[in-house]
Amino acid sequence: PSSDNTPYAQIGEEKLHQLIDRFYELVSQHPDISFLFPDDLAETARKQKQFLTQFLGGPALYTEEHGHPMLRARHMPFPITADRAKAWLSCMELAMNDVHLQEPIKSQLFHRLSYTAQHMINTKE
Ligand code: HEM
Repeated sequence: PSSDNTPYAQIGEEKLHQLIDRFYELVSQHPDISFLFPDDLAETARKQKQFLTQFLGGPALYTEEHGHPMLRARHMPFPITADRAKAWLSCMELAMNDVHLQEPIKSQLFHRLSYTAQHMINTKE
C-alpha cells in the first residue's frame, strides 16, 4: 500500500516515540525555552507523538482527539521569539542525532520542522 512509503512508515513508531521523548528531555534542560513548558511533559509529549505521526503521513491521531491542529493559534499563549525557535530546533537536531535518525529522512524532517518553527514566531526579541 502507498502508506508504506510515508516518512512515518520509514521512521517507524518506536523510533518516532524515542525521538520525541529525547526531544522533551532536552527541552526541559534548555535554559532559553524550558520555562515555557509544564514541569510534567508527559501530556505534551503524548500530543506531539500524535501530531508528528500525522505530520509524517501516518494516521491522523492528533486531529481525531483534538481537532484541527491550528498550531500557530495554539502557540499564541507562549511568547515565541526567533531565538526560542532556534532553541527548539537545536533540541530537535540533538535528539535526532541521539536516536540515530538516518539520512535522508533526518534532513527532510528537520527542514520541514524549521519551516513550521519559523511560522510559530509570534514575538519580537
Ligand atoms: C505545544 C512551545 C514549535 C508542535 C507547545 C507548548 C509550548 C510550545 C510551550 C505547550 C505545551 C503544553 O502546555 O503541553 C514551542 C516553541 C516552539 C514550538 C517555543 C518554537 C518554535 C513547535 C513546532 C511544532 C510544535 C515546530 C510542530 C512540529 C506542538 C504541538 C503542541 C505544542 C503539537 C501541543 C498542542 C496542544 O496543546 O494540543 N509548544 N513550540 N511546536 N507544540 Fe510547540
